[in-house]
Amino acid sequence: MILDRILVTGGTVSALLDDPRLAALVDSLTGRPTWLTLALGERGGDPRAALLGWAEQRNPAGARALDVSVIDAPAASRALAAHTALLAGEPVDRAVVVAGWQHGLCVANSVAQAAEIGGFAEEDLAPASAGRWYSMMEGAPVVITHPERIELGYGARINPRAVIHNEGAIRIGRGSLLGADAELNLYTATFTIGRFCHTSSYLAAIGSRHTVHYPSTFAVSRGPYAFLGEAADEVGDIVLGNDVWVGARVVLLPGVHVADGCVVGAGSVVTSSLTEPYGIYAGNPARLLRHRFAPHVVKWLLGIQWWNWPSRRLWESRGFFATDIADKTEDDLWKLIEP
Ligand SMILES: CC(C)(COP(=O)(O)OP(=O)(O)OC[C@H]1O[C@@H](n2cnc3c(N)ncnc32)[C@H](O)[C@@H]1OP(=O)(O)O)[C@@H](O)C(=O)NCCC(=O)NCCS
Repeated sequence: MILDRILVTGGTVSALLDDPRLAALVDSLTGRPTWLTLALGERGGDPRAALLGWAEQRNPAGARALDVSVIDAPAASRALAAHTALLAGEPVDRAVVVAGWQHGLCVANSVAQAAEIGGFAEEDLAPASAGRWYSMMEGAPVVITHPERIELGYGARINPRAVIHNEGAIRIGRGSLLGADAELNLYTATFTIGRFCHTSSYLAAIGSRHTVHYPSTFAVSRGPYAFLGEAADEVGDIVLGNDVWVGARVVLLPGVHVADGCVVGAGSVVTSSLTEPYGIYAGNPARLLRHRFAPHVVKWLLGIQWWNWPSRRLWESRGFFATDIADKTEDDLWKLIEP
């Protein structure tokens, strides 16, 4: 993988050496020259030697190609500026931040993500218009309670003014966009958006349900009346498949799953799972209006799972993505992708 400039922020080097994410990152180094900058709150001792000695024991080949420099935490602020949103309100050592200094911006908080990003760079795909950014939050979210539990796939984006209350994981797949003004009141539920999805503005994803069979539904965890309790029912996770388009002002209620290829009409309230792949659903409650394609086309699309293709193949198939396939036979469809 090509991750050659890595910025790791933390309090002390010894705390960082106990961080399994840093260990996994060092274990994954391949011997390609890599520059690792430690931005430390406390620089006592010889952090550079400590890190190199530790890395040498874990991964000698990787350590030999590692160029380590140490800076004071405040000096990291410029590199971190692009990640302010991710780290807002959190101690900086909660996240391993990889700044793609040479290639653009990226936010990575797991080694799996870093590998995904690196894998793409290695393909050296450089369509002029694609720019050079990986995954990002555009503009400041108002709230993110647990930014370190958000995983953005390659090219995934969170548009401005998201309000995200999450105790659990949020995964936004490769290429997907969470539209502006999203309100994810997830609490303990997880929220997964597949690959190449687009949610329009004002999505509300609800992962909590106040208990209605207690004397009161009041469930405010802060303030003078918090003692009245936070009774909430366990709810299911919310999952959007791949290539899902969610119109403006949609409400997703707890536990709903949306099948691959679906469209959810503007203003819909999704009260139960939308199970028909490539279905167009709308209304309150959301109901199936029709399908995007005839059954044979749906079956074929589900078979090829284009959202899992490598980026190069997507790039080379861009003509296919600009084709009206509604009336194509299966033979025609194959010809479009295997000329
Ligand atoms: C769902 C949608 C794609 C359907 O478009 P369509 O296939 O052209 O559907 P039609 O306009 O032919 O409507 C079919 C029926 O569904 C109803 N319908 C369409 N969209 C609806 C919606 N969002 N909510 C409730 N009913 C809806 C229509 O009233 C019509 O009902 P009828 O048959 O009783 O007259 C479209 O209406 C929609 O909501 N698009 C989202 C746009 C958006 O949010 N964009 C944000 C920017 S990305």
